[in-house]
Amino acid sequence: MADEPSVSRWSFLFGRKKATEADDEVANGHNGNSSNVTSNGNGHLINSPELAVYEQFRIQAGLPDKPPRPLFPPFESAEMRTLAESLSRDIIRGNPNVKWESIKGLENAKRLLKEAVVMPIKYPKYFTGLLSPWKGILLFGPPGTGKTMLAKAVATECNTTFFNISASSVVSKWRGDSEKLVKVLFELARHHAPSTIFLDEIDAIISQRGEARSEHEASRRLKTELLIQMDGLTQTDELVFVLAATNLPWELDAAMLRRLEKRILVPLPEPEARKAMFEELLSSPTDGEKLPYDLLVERTEGYSGSDIRLVCKEAAMQPLRRVMAVLEDNHEVVPEDELPTVGPISHGDIEAALKNTRPSSHLNASRYEQFNADYGSQILQ
Ligand SMILES: Nc1ncnc2c1ncn2[C@@H]1O[C@H](COP(=O)(O)OP(=O)(O)OP(=O)(O)O)[C@@H](O)[C@H]1O
Ligand SMILES: [Mg+2]
Repeated sequence: MADEPSVSRWSFLFGRKKATEADDEVANGHNGNSSNVTSNGNGHLINSPELAVYEQFRIQAGLPDKPPRPLFPPFESAEMRTLAESLSRDIIRGNPNVKWESIKGLENAKRLLKEAVVMPIKYPKYFTGLLSPWKGILLFGPPGTGKTMLAKAVATECNTTFFNISASSVVSKWRGDSEKLVKVLFELARHHAPSTIFLDEIDAIISQRGEARSEHEASRRLKTELLIQMDGLTQTDELVFVLAATNLPWELDAAMLRRLEKRILVPLPEPEARKAMFEELLSSPTDGEKLPYDLLVERTEGYSGSDIRLVCKEAAMQPLRRVMAVLEDNHEVVPEDELPTVGPISHGDIEAALKNTRPSSHLNASRYEQFNADYGSQILQ
């Protein structure tokens, strides 16, 4: 019984069961009992820990139950239903927990995203006719600058059905059925609208080129289907957005770019953003001298957000290394409550960290600026 899939959660989640009954089950830690389970209509049941977590969140936050809706729209074939099931695992429901405030800087990108996705979902009334929302949005910029974080913040803020589709999930699920997978993905998204389809590393998804002819053919079909489906979105009023991210925007072809109407540059962090990141990651000792944040900011021109994280990690590692050197001299294992405390980070540690960590993504920076000037969306004052 313990190994059985938690079928009751699925049927509960999509409203097939009375909420009170299911609430009791969650509260009791009940893990699925096939005798009182309602089938989801297609006989395929999956155990999905993420969905269970969302349910707990929903109950704790006291959110209202979603209106009953079947798990899947009616599909033509069993094969498509199977694909829909595997895609359902990529749905993030509830909260990936990235807040706008935890993303430092990037004010323009945040503002454009709020205007393009968040507001139309929150206040659909204003976004009709000529003002109907953008359906395709591209986040582009150097690696490690917060594109994936921004998409997660959108998911957190909007609380809609969020399909997190990365190149690896497409590749692992596609098995030659790429265009069917895309078709099913969009059908599912429309079914659960309002929804956001996040295509991370879109360059890898659509510019997959293999040696074998069949692979080439498959990638061409995938791309065509994606273009067709995205065209379909602009012709309906349903709230389904495609949010794509890439660090090679110039590899996208013209047809794809045309459909990703709103293109937002996510640049390397400005000095103020770098300062905010350092202050958050490396806190100064309360009694001792303040850490040299201005020096850090000055010396990290051209560093991406993830490079800055590495610098901080490296600096924080230095005091720990000193402790470890002491422990290594000790031939016996020191019990946990007698372990020496780790000292504060010194200026020397910061110097060493800066020397050891080089910027990784500054080389192409001007190319992104050029792409932004040619194709990007700017803020109109
Ligand atoms: N603006 C930022 N504010 C705070 N942290 C950031 C910021 N940008 C990057 N980071 C840090 O860098 C890490 C990587 O960010 P993220 O995965 O969003 O980058 P990305 O732009 O999607 O990169 P890639 O193009 O390589 O996928 C984050 O986990 C975070 O720690
Ligand atoms: Mg990313």
